[in-house]
Amino acid sequence: MKKVLVINASPRGDRSHSRKLTDLFIQKWQQQAPEDVIIQREVGQANIPHITEAWIASAFTPPQKLTPAQKQTLELSNQLVAEFKAADVYLIGTPMHNWSIPSGFKAYVDHLMRFGQTWTFESGKPDGKYVGLVNHKKMYILTSRGDTGYNQGEHNAHMNFQTPYLRTVFGIMGIQDITEVTLENEEYGGQTFQDSLAKTHQKIADLFDS
Ligand SMILES: Cc1cc2nc3c(=O)[nH]c(=O)nc-3n(C[C@H](O)[C@H](O)[C@H](O)COP(=O)(O)O)c2cc1C
Repeated sequence: MKKVLVINASPRGDRSHSRKLTDLFIQKWQQQAPEDVIIQREVGQANIPHITEAWIASAFTPPQKLTPAQKQTLELSNQLVAEFKAADVYLIGTPMHNWSIPSGFKAYVDHLMRFGQTWTFESGKPDGKYVGLVNHKKMYILTSRGDTGYNQGEHNAHMNFQTPYLRTVFGIMGIQDITEVTLENEEYGGQTFQDSLAKTHQKIADLFDS
């Protein structure tokens, strides 16, 4: 039995295409592995707070030296980290916003990126060698974008700070096995978008046929 943590990052609800992609993925996953546990982590509509000065001071204080107030400051982050580390599989649904990820999702990532919990340095102190502490996990990233051509070698690739960023930050945490499926062309609508949608649905179906 695996735990699948579903992280939806769109601020949109019913109109969100990335949420529809994660719904489709979950439906197929449950057909294949009905015993697995699906955990939903709402990010896009949850208003996860930005990290603060007090948070930063607390996160870089050795655990045995934390004051009661600092422990409280880290409470949400600790919960998010524990939930994240307990999962075996991650399913992310995210839009591209301003060539990156939505700000609420960035706030969530900041809470997860905890020294000594999700990553460390090889020597235990700054040495430029990051060591991930979240190992042997699988991640799927399902993205929706208005425009097109953001993949490697394509005309907008230099503006893609979304999936390269996610691969970097989760890679530093130790998650190397990452599969991306992208829906593009939403802003063009019509047949162009319908064709993209059909292709993306097929790519999701292929993940379960192979
Ligand atoms: C605030 C905002 C910024 C966006 N920025 C980009 C962008 O930089 N590049 C792009 O291709 N599409 C951009 N889009 C379009 C979204 O990526 C597209 O509508 C996507 O389908 C949204 O995902 P969702 O339907 O899950 O919310 C933007 C949309 C919004 C609302």
